[in-house]
Amino acid sequence: MAGPLTVYRVESVGVRMPSADGPREILRDVTFAVATGEIVGIVGRSGAGKTTLLRVLGGLHSPTCGSVSIFGRPVTRPPDGVVMVFQDYGNALLPWRTVARNTALGIERNVGRAARRAKVDRALQMVGLSDRSSDYPEQLSGGMAQRVQIARALAVEPAVLLMDEPFGALDALTKSALQDVLLNVHQQTGTTIVFITHDLDEAIYLSDRVVVLNGEPGVVVLTIETELPRPRDQFDTRESARYLEVRHLLGRALRGDDD
Ligand SMILES: Nc1ncnc2c1ncn2[C@@H]1O[C@H](COP(=O)(O)OP(=O)(O)O)[C@@H](O)[C@H]1O
Ligand SMILES: [Mg+2]
Repeated sequence: MAGPLTVYRVESVGVRMPSADGPREILRDVTFAVATGEIVGIVGRSGAGKTTLLRVLGGLHSPTCGSVSIFGRPVTRPPDGVVMVFQDYGNALLPWRTVARNTALGIERNVGRAARRAKVDRALQMVGLSDRSSDYPEQLSGGMAQRVQIARALAVEPAVLLMDEPFGALDALTKSALQDVLLNVHQQTGTTIVFITHDLDEAIYLSDRVVVLNGEPGVVVLTIETELPRPRDQFDTRESARYLEVRHLLGRALRGDDD
């Protein structure tokens, strides 16, 4: 993949971190690319280096070796147009601010009042929280709180959304509802999305491409195009022959089978 359609190009990235018994290798020789408008899921077990990889993409951590570029430019600090949604959404919202004012957090300094309001309204509408705009975080369920965090990211109108296990702590029904919220947002905005998950089914259901990280240090053991049609459906998609085929291949890769 080359040219303007490439958002991220990650080449032979390695990360080492200091530990009590000397430098520890966290990621080794990680290579993949992300095209404009794609949803890419990175799946792996706990400890495989997923969060570290997302921090590298977000310019929060420099790789020890290899290179990462975004829109053809090296990532050296948090790039413009990239917004991260963190795992720990319970702490991401400011408890003394309403939903609307939490959503506005990323656009307060450089967007005028009227435009800000329009962007906040639109973002809340996309995540289905228009009627909660004057609530406070303590009045929200976990799923709603995570939707506010997503709305906050959307209000910035980012080119790229990076998400670390966005639905990891939610119950199964809330999780599948939010997966569909995210797919709807993607359909409306075309935002490029890279997300991390330890849930194989979530990776397949959401993604155009799934990257499997395995081992310690984490290496890419498989990259697969899901080739599942959009719009997707929680039942039809998950019951399709292609879905099961992809699931089989990814499951084997995660388990560490040779073939
Ligand atoms: N700042 C750090 N310093 C040292 N080791 C770290 C640091 N951050 C993460 N690690 C180690 O890197 C490994 C991968 O962590 P992480 O990227 O959080 O994995 P995952 O998100 O897949 O669970 C873990 O063993 C973790 O202890
Ligand atoms: Mg993690």
